[in-house]
Amino acid sequence: MQEASASPSASPPPDKPSLEKPRARAFPADRCGDCHSMLHAEWKTSAHARARHAPLYVAMRDQSKNPVCEVCHAPLAGLTAPAERAVDEGVTCEACHAIRDVGEDAAEPRYTFDLEGNRKFGPYCDAKDNYFHKVGCAPAFRDARVCGGCHAFSMPLADGKSLPIITEFTEWRASSFAVSGTACQECHMPAEMTYAATGTERKVRVAHHGFMGEKGELVRKALGIVASATDHAGKIALSVVLKNEGAGHAVPSGVAGRQVVVRVQALDEKGQMQAREERMLGRVLVDEAGREVPFYLARAEKSDNRIAPGEARTLAFELDAPQPGSLVIEVAWRSASPAISEALGVPAEERSMGKIEIPFGGKRSGKGREHLPKTVVVRP
Ligand code: HEC
Ligand code: HEC
Ligand code: HEC
Ligand code: HEC
Ligand code: HEC
Repeated sequence: MQEASASPSASPPPDKPSLEKPRARAFPADRCGDCHSMLHAEWKTSAHARARHAPLYVAMRDQSKNPVCEVCHAPLAGLTAPAERAVDEGVTCEACHAIRDVGEDAAEPRYTFDLEGNRKFGPYCDAKDNYFHKVGCAPAFRDARVCGGCHAFSMPLADGKSLPIITEFTEWRASSFAVSGTACQECHMPAEMTYAATGTERKVRVAHHGFMGEKGELVRKALGIVASATDHAGKIALSVVLKNEGAGHAVPSGVAGRQVVVRVQALDEKGQMQAREERMLGRVLVDEAGREVPFYLARAEKSDNRIAPGEARTLAFELDAPQPGSLVIEVAWRSASPAISEALGVPAEERSMGKIEIPFGGKRSGKGREHLPKTVVVRP
């Protein structure tokens, strides 16, 4: 059996793989897909499948030149022969299903990997070995700790303190979701009753492997949005309340620099802009000079205005809109802040988290026109 620990937090990057007997065999995901075709198709749509090749990651890894990155983004690199195709697949099937156990009490969980004997560890304790692989019972697969070894990460600072970088697990553990036993999997890997593999008779709870739901829909389930507008003779007062109703951690989550952008526009009836404003929610990490930088260059956290689980945040806007028209309120997830995407030359990606349109003004008797005040509620 071979053992290794991920979760290199707060320790210097390993300069060589910490294994006495490395170089076990690992299979690429499409081999698993021969029998687990549905799970394979779902996984291929996930960020895990791109963990070693996502443009932002590649740019940051190359700039940081820090070997620690691969421990989580290409975990098989330290466990098998570097030429194995599976290594390049990032957080692939073998990377997770070689986890035999997860440490019990550690602040940031640590994995024990076992790639010998072609045994796949998973949540079932009554699955039978098949001609291709043996099965191993690892109840930790239903536990948040199986995610926490990678989804909790801090970097050591010169003053001996450490700077949290990836915080989903630590935030979840401090939330009511940990108390109620709602693990990451409940939201990120919802289960259906079907066959786990072709050729089995047994119907079991099979967990979705897209991790953000079908077509990434989970991002639209995070926030409840309430927009209330009143008109004071062409000056519109708008309040937008964002409530983190759907996530077991702060929103936005993920690596520092992720943002939720709230864009409000007052358009006239022809769609011309009368006024606009934009607010950003996220964590800002800065260097000694106070500039926003990628996390591996950061020395401190400058601000954190993310929305905690269950928290409602009110944003107030004043817009000059003398002409009748409509208010457009857009809430979007953004993969990186403008400062970070500019510094690395990687364009930021955006996904909609919700949109509200409120018409206002117009002729008093006009059909279908709405007069303010008005409140629109969007539930995830
Ligand atoms: C020849 C077909 C076949 C191939 C190829 C295959 N599996 Fe399986 N796998 C099965 C069968 C059959 C089961 C048992 C399903 C059941 O009990 O309902 C299973 C079960 C599992 C389980 C559940 C184990 C548990 O105890 O909970 C995991 C995890 C797993 N496979 C991972 C993999 C991975 C990773 C690969 C690729 C390296 C792979 N499988 C390739 C047929 C296959
Ligand atoms: C071996 C390390 C590892 C493990 C274990 C792991 N993750 Fe990840 N996860 C990553 C990395 C690395 C990324 C970022 C990939 C990238 O570069 O975009 C990621 C990304 C994600 C994302 C972002 C998806 C998206 O489309 O933006 C979600 C959600 C996620 N993981 C959930 C989970 C859950 C839930 C578990 C536990 C069942 C888990 N992860 C276990 C390493 C891991
Ligand atoms: C990020 C870690 C991760 C990756 C990558 C991953 N799995 Fe899983 N897998 C899990 C977890 C966690 C469970 C248990 C989820 C639950 O039961 O709540 C699971 C469950 C399973 C099961 C048991 C049936 C089920 O869905 O509960 C099979 C089979 C399986 N995975 C195969 C695969 C295959 C094949 C791949 C690659 C295409 C893969 N997994 C990639 C974490 C992962
Ligand atoms: C109650 C449901 C729920 C639970 C529990 C939960 N999440 Fe999430 N998660 C969400 C929702 C909704 C989003 C989309 C909002 C966002 O991207 O910030 C999300 C987003 C994410 C992302 C994507 C970040 C990004 O911006 O790409 C990661 C990674 C993640 N969760 C990991 C985890 C991990 C790890 C756990 C357990 C420790 C966990 N989540 C527990 C609902 C949940
Ligand atoms: C302890 C595990 C771990 C280590 C070590 C680690 N990461 Fe990550 N990284 C993650 C996880 C988990 C995510 C997923 C959270 C998210 O969606 O932002 C992630 C996400 C990212 C993202 C966002 C991915 C995207 O596609 O937008 C970038 C960029 C990134 N990491 C860069 C790095 C770099 C550079 C290093 C090394 C200096 C590194 N990471 C080290 C676990 C780790």
